[in-house]
Amino acid sequence: MSSARDMNSLGKARDVETRIGSLLEVMSIEEKVGQLNQVQCTGPNVVEDLAHGIRSGRIGSVINVVDPDAINAMQHIAIHESRHGIPLLIGRDVIHGFKTVAPLPLGQAASWNPGLVRECARVSAQEATAYGINWTFAPMIDIARDPRWGRVAESLGEDPFLASALGAAMVVGFQESANGEADTLIACAKHFAGYGASEAGRDYNTTNLPLNEMRNVYLPPFKAAREAGVATFMTSFSDIDGIPATASDFLLDEVLRQEWGFDGAVVSDWDAIHQLCVHGLCENDVEATYLAARAGVDIDMISGVYERHIPELVATERLPMERLDTLVGNVLRVKIQAGLMDRDVTVLPEEPARMSGLALVREAAAQSLVLLRNENAVLPLDATRLDRLAVIGPLADEPAEQLGTWVFDGDPARSVTPLAALHAMLEGEVEIDHVRALETTRSRDRSQFDAAFAAAQSADMAIFFIGEEAILSGEAHSRADITLPGVQADLVRHVRGAGKPVIGVILAGRPLAMGDIADQFDALIYAWHPGSMGGPAIADTLFGRCVPSGKLPVSFPTMSGQVPIYYAHKQTGRPATPETVIHIDDIPSGAEQTSLGMTTFHLDAGYLPLYPFGFGLSYTTFDYADLSIDRHHVPLGGRVVVEASITNTGDRAGTEIVQLYVRDRFGSLTRPVRELKGFERIHLEPGQSHRVRFELHTDELAFYGRDGAFAAEPGDFDVWVAPSSVGGLHTHFAITA
Ligand code: GLC
Repeated sequence: MSSARDMNSLGKARDVETRIGSLLEVMSIEEKVGQLNQVQCTGPNVVEDLAHGIRSGRIGSVINVVDPDAINAMQHIAIHESRHGIPLLIGRDVIHGFKTVAPLPLGQAASWNPGLVRECARVSAQEATAYGINWTFAPMIDIARDPRWGRVAESLGEDPFLASALGAAMVVGFQESANGEADTLIACAKHFAGYGASEAGRDYNTTNLPLNEMRNVYLPPFKAAREAGVATFMTSFSDIDGIPATASDFLLDEVLRQEWGFDGAVVSDWDAIHQLCVHGLCENDVEATYLAARAGVDIDMISGVYERHIPELVATERLPMERLDTLVGNVLRVKIQAGLMDRDVTVLPEEPARMSGLALVREAAAQSLVLLRNENAVLPLDATRLDRLAVIGPLADEPAEQLGTWVFDGDPARSVTPLAALHAMLEGEVEIDHVRALETTRSRDRSQFDAAFAAAQSADMAIFFIGEEAILSGEAHSRADITLPGVQADLVRHVRGAGKPVIGVILAGRPLAMGDIADQFDALIYAWHPGSMGGPAIADTLFGRCVPSGKLPVSFPTMSGQVPIYYAHKQTGRPATPETVIHIDDIPSGAEQTSLGMTTFHLDAGYLPLYPFGFGLSYTTFDYADLSIDRHHVPLGGRVVVEASITNTGDRAGTEIVQLYVRDRFGSLTRPVRELKGFERIHLEPGQSHRVRFELHTDELAFYGRDGAFAAEPGDFDVWVAPSSVGGLHTHFAITA
């Protein structure tokens, strides 16, 4: 017997479908196509320019208009001057903040904190909806394993389990309304799918993905977003195995609609339907329109081909009216379920208090910082023992750069830079000597090197703020050489010569290849692009008011040539070990053409990352002990319980992100050497212990195997409770048939 709640939701669902059916019955073809048509309009007369199209029902969605008065004027026309009064979807890339900017998604991922990520999305939703925006093109949940790809910045990293947990949290944060529906921001899972596997890490490039890799690695975060209730998906630009995602019946129909039962709306990426011709999948826009509509793209983002060609495709019966009604129904369903049809969308919610948003993104920035190196516990600093600090580098005082990519609406005036935060914190206590030394991170001008050297020489220590400006990552901004740009590394080496401790704070939108410079720092903090309050978060961490807890959501290569490099790699038939690796510098002169190593490594880079996925240090230390597993044999359908005791063995409180990994030793397909299957953030006072408990159901060990079926397979498993994807406490179990 269904509960009253089920009956109510069933009733609501029937009501939605009834409303859709009633509208479809009275809409003309042009009005139906209008719901599939997303336009952008720039310039001073947006409302005037779009008024006729909106009034005649030929526009269903607008992108990149953020003026609340213009948005309200357009909504008023749509509701009160068009035949059916259907409100507009107002879309904007609110990726990691609107006016108040949280850390990059990649930085948020380093917090491993779904609750915090959800709250950051919620603040974004409250700020954006206060301007009339009701649809964001986020979360971006492409798995990114090649940091040359500029869009790794907006991803949630390399791992499907972590990206799934955090992507789902963003969906809930955007869409979950705190007070009625006015501050609901419709979310969009993008880019569906496989975009992060673009060859050579070059944006928009060809993507060849084996089906099991697509299903076991790239699709899971999208399935999690679907299960979290995401209302829309966006197709990827990618040409996947010869079929662009925007025309992929496999992705848009077989997986999304048939397997996952998705009934929301799919939007193309920018002009991507027309680009099917550029890909060479078809000869003209009519064919592109047909292929996209047939595959299941509901909304055409700004190419205009749906408006121009769907009417003739329906008139010539190439596209059945039923298919058009399905596409339009998906869009109407999103608008109805988001409440747009049942409230006055021109009544905008109050903009949230700026200070509360800034406090949240400050906490997010603090939790995003990853301490990679801290020789001789040089950090945290003690202001009472310092007279003078040399603050060096082009990113110490750049309020816009620290916001990172995809911050169209970010307000730099809300930013507090590291230099400003240090001045505020140390005013009257410690002298700060700021030497920018380089105009930009790309600069090759060494003329200020000596000034930086002199500043360090007369200070107690030097703190570098270096890395990449926001423009060096994000869409279309891939780099082949992902070392520190310009002569920043040389600047560090030069200043190192002053003989004072050197601390590095790296602001960047990707993991940089720092194998040749990392050891020049006594301490190294990775700050990503930390958002509006990155400065105070960094200052708090440098001086111990915050204890770093971040863990890497991506592997860090030693050099660019190592990528792609990721922890969940396959064993191969010749796995490398420390014993088999031979370094290029160690090959004796005149060496015979003999077999070197004969395992999978690079002569000049070995096979290990500089810093592994899941790695991050603290100002305290944690001991892992007393691992237990409740059984070593578990039947399919059963579960094992793995526990361990984590103790804070240092003299400061700290937060540890304890990770659970498994390895399926043998499978119908080769399996990764490790896979993340759980994590828990625990805060421990000095000397305090906590017993973590992970329950692992055999269903969580399922994968798409050789026969294409999704199932867990009997066999032996390793399991670790660990501080990163390397090491940890180990035991094993077997799934029995
Ligand atoms: C861009 C991006 C996509 C974004 C869209 C709208 O090309 O690929 O992520 O949401 O266009 O700006």
